[in-house]
Amino acid sequence: MRKLVVLLNLLMLNSAVLMAQDSPAKEGMSQLIDDQFKFADQQYKVLSKNVPADVMPQTYHAEKNKVQTSDTKWWCSGFYPGTLLYIYEYTKDPEILAEATARLGILEKEKHYTGNHDLGFMMYCSFGNAYRITKNPAYKTTIDTAAASLTTRYRPAAKVIQSWNASKRWGGPVIIDNMMNLELLSWVSDHGGDKKYKEVAITHANTTLKNHFRPDFSSYHVVDYDMKTGEVVKKQTAQGAADESAWSRGQSWGLYGYTMMYRFTKDKRYLDQARNIAKFILNHPNMPADLVPYWDFNAPGIPNTYRDASAAAVNASALLELAQYVNKKERKTYVTAAEKMIRSLASDAYRAKLGENGGFLLMHSVGSIPHKTEIDVPLTYADYYFLEALHRYKNWYL
Ligand code: GLY
Repeated sequence: MRKLVVLLNLLMLNSAVLMAQDSPAKEGMSQLIDDQFKFADQQYKVLSKNVPADVMPQTYHAEKNKVQTSDTKWWCSGFYPGTLLYIYEYTKDPEILAEATARLGILEKEKHYTGNHDLGFMMYCSFGNAYRITKNPAYKTTIDTAAASLTTRYRPAAKVIQSWNASKRWGGPVIIDNMMNLELLSWVSDHGGDKKYKEVAITHANTTLKNHFRPDFSSYHVVDYDMKTGEVVKKQTAQGAADESAWSRGQSWGLYGYTMMYRFTKDKRYLDQARNIAKFILNHPNMPADLVPYWDFNAPGIPNTYRDASAAAVNASALLELAQYVNKKERKTYVTAAEKMIRSLASDAYRAKLGENGGFLLMHSVGSIPHKTEIDVPLTYADYYFLEALHRYKNWYL
């Protein structure tokens, strides 16, 4: 009997050593994650004091030492409550939960908003996390209503959800970012809601697969459709450097979007798409050594131009999920890359000091260079996806 126990112990030790050899370097990651969440808990209390109760934080103007706020219709309105909820999930700090709950209160009315496609970002990153963590059924009702509102933007002739309303420039614009809103629809259908939401999400993902990508798996930002005939009218950019360039955050939305749609469907085409996008991003000759991309992979002036920390945060979170669906060798590539991104973002080069940066966590993101807005500043979604990546790393790889 004793011999058997010794043998079993030896076997277990051996497999632990093998597992450690197989898993990417993770020294210090547990401490890093703990430090980041404890910091975030303090830093977001600074941010909360800078934001009046009826609005949401948007960014910070260092020269004026002022946090810029937005109303709850702004596409980013869900990220602040979502980030608070990620902090609460780790620290269990009741003050942070109270702040999240108050902000959900002012956001809730937007469940009826149909003015653009951003409802997934707004309502799922906020109420989705709130329901997941608290199981309060009222939050689920809010998410269900939001899915119904978003679905009103589905255009059957083109088989897409229309992102923005018609303008002088575009009649029926759909942007790659829209892939992110499919999480709301798929989740609701999979949790007792109308099945048609997920059908719409799948149809949109298939149309985007067909029309948004170039042969190298980079994506256009905007595809303009004739919503009556379904024809593609033109392929352009709104926030990228040029129509034919690869706007960095757009590539990140595509990576995250197809990885997430694979989670809901197990459709191998989505997994392959995500793997090919990952290849494009990780092997791009213009990707800097710290894996925080320039704002556009083809930005003029590289290396003397801005980085986009938000794109790195989205990439890190997406790669950690993609790593769940591939073989050991590929998993190691993705987790190692994501870990590098996390370490870069957590370093002094990108992570602010307590009390600075208006209360945001990360510095150096870019909203839109062509619009001359939010350049080299903190942004709510950089913080949100950074903390999401930390949770994913902790839950799946530690
Ligand atoms: N969805 C807008 C952006 O990524 O800037």
